[in-house]
Amino acid sequence: MRRRIAAGNWKMNMGLEASAELARKVKDFTGSNARSVDIVVCPTFLSLADVAEELEGSGIAVGAQDCYHGSQGAFTGEVNPELIKDAGGAYCIVGHSERRTLMQEADKEVNLKAKALIGAGIVPIICVGETLAERQALDTMNVVRGQVMRAYAGIAPEDAAGTVIAYEPVWAIGTGLNATADDAEAVCKAIRDVIRYIYDGPTADSVRILYGGSVKADNISGLMSEKDIDGALVGGASLKAAEFGKIVQAIAGKCSDEA
Ligand code: 13P
Repeated sequence: MRRRIAAGNWKMNMGLEASAELARKVKDFTGSNARSVDIVVCPTFLSLADVAEELEGSGIAVGAQDCYHGSQGAFTGEVNPELIKDAGGAYCIVGHSERRTLMQEADKEVNLKAKALIGAGIVPIICVGETLAERQALDTMNVVRGQVMRAYAGIAPEDAAGTVIAYEPVWAIGTGLNATADDAEAVCKAIRDVIRYIYDGPTADSVRILYGGSVKADNISGLMSEKDIDGALVGGASLKAAEFGKIVQAIAGKCSDEA
C-alpha cells in the first residue's frame, strides 16, 4: 500500500505573515489527518523557514517550489537543495509547467534538479503534463512518457522508489477544468508503466503519483477512487485552509463532507 500525499503548492502568493497564518490554519484543519496521509505545503522560498517552524511537530511537511542543482557557490539568485533542507524543507517541486513555460525549464534541468534533491535527501515532486494542443493532437501519452523518461535518466532504482510524480495537465491548471478521473487514471497508469519499463515492478509500485489541475473538495473523491492516483498537488484550493482540509480528508479516505 502506498501512503497517500496531499500537497499544496502555494505558488507566488502571500508574504511572511500571511504564510505563517495560513500554516497555522492548515494545522487546525488538517492536523488530525497527518497520521494517515503525508501532508505537504509549499510556500515561497522567503516563507519556507517560518512555515517550517510554525508546523514543527505537527506532522505536516514543508516543500519548496523549485531549486537549483549546483552546490553552494557563485549562482546569484539561486537556492540549492542543501539550503532548502537547512530551512526545514523535506520536499521540492520540480518541472512545474509554469516553470517549463515561463522560465523555459527543460527536461535536462528537471533531471539535474531531481538528482540534486535526491542527493540532499529531499523528496522531488516531479511534474509532467501535456498542453491542450498536445492533448488535442492525441499526443498526451507520448509527451508524458518522454518527460518521465528524461526526468529519471541516470537515477538509480533505489532512489527512484522514493520519488513522487505529479501529473498536471497544463490545460487543467488554474482553469477550473479538471481531467476526468478516468482520463487522469489512464495517464497516471501510463506513468507507472514507464517507471516499470525503466526500472522494475517493485519500483513502479513504490513511486507515488499525484494528480494536479483544478483539484477542489468537490472533485477529489472521484480522483482518489482510482488505482494509480496516490494523492493530489493542489494549487488555488490549497490557499483556503478549510477547503484544503476537506481535500486532505478525502485523500485520507474519509468523508469530505465531515471536514
Ligand atoms: P490549480 O489547483 O490552481 O489548478 O493548480 C494546480 C497546480 O499547478 C499545482 O501545482
